[in-house]
Amino acid sequence: MIRRRAARAAAEAARALPADPDAAVLLHDVHRGYTDGDGVVSALAGVSLRVPTGAFLAVMGPSGSGKSTLLNCASGMDVPTSGTVRIGGADVGALAEPERTLFRRDRVGFVFQAYNLLPALTAEENITLPLRLAGRAPDREWLGSLVERVGIADRLRHRPAELSGGQQQRVAIVRALAARPAVVFADEPTGALDAAGAARILGLLREVVDELGQTVVMVTHDPKAAARAHATAVMADGRIDGVLHSPAPADLAAHLASLEQARA
Ligand SMILES: Nc1ncnc2c1ncn2[C@@H]1O[C@H](COP(=O)(O)OP(=O)(O)OP(=O)(O)O)[C@@H](O)[C@H]1O
Ligand SMILES: [Mg+2]
Repeated sequence: MIRRRAARAAAEAARALPADPDAAVLLHDVHRGYTDGDGVVSALAGVSLRVPTGAFLAVMGPSGSGKSTLLNCASGMDVPTSGTVRIGGADVGALAEPERTLFRRDRVGFVFQAYNLLPALTAEENITLPLRLAGRAPDREWLGSLVERVGIADRLRHRPAELSGGQQQRVAIVRALAARPAVVFADEPTGALDAAGAARILGLLREVVDELGQTVVMVTHDPKAAARAHATAVMADGRIDGVLHSPAPADLAAHLASLEQARA
């Protein structure tokens, strides 16, 4: 009994040790399968990935290649079928509920593909909700500068239904950055924006990376958006097909086109 307890304590201590202190996110051989009517869909089929602290990583790939599933697993939103995910050294899969939810709330910011704003709350209440749930006081100066920079300062008292898709997306981005999380995961954060709006969001993300050492992982379909990141992981069929460092948008577009062609 004592030996078993000691073994468990040792295992917990080993888990608590950061395997790689400079990595904000580490994925090792992550699989995620879904069972549907036709059998098992392998959304992630063995993904290993290291995102260094302070890095801005873009994730690209054809529709259905597993980008959102990767973000969900890497952020602790979802638990892989097998494999390990570490955020800031903590083994997220080893956390039981509600610890995993609390961990995510404290350490991770998420911008969803479908913004996920609460309809009954104003833009400002949506932005500050995660902080209030965590019992933390919002940093008014920081929030003020964020809403100013993304251009929603005059929309804060509106509810999501009274905002355009692009404005809702910007509210979601400010919400993700509000608590200065260890990592921000963003699923197509510029998808609903026009060119000027997209440039503003990408500029803000790049700024928080460069000036605050924020780690950002961003899914995008736009090679120009990906080119603002340090590196781009290209996914195909639930795997990482390659990681390109500072690629030119034209090279990324060509790489993606060759993947689409291979699938056709
Ligand atoms: N909840 C689910 N149940 C069953 N299959 C799922 C589920 N979520 C995702 N999948 C499947 O897993 C695969 C990967 O989906 P995912 O949403 O990660 O793709 P994606 O690369 O984000 O695509 P998109 O660019 O269209 O957003 C797809 O084949 C999808 O149909
Ligand atoms: Mg997706």
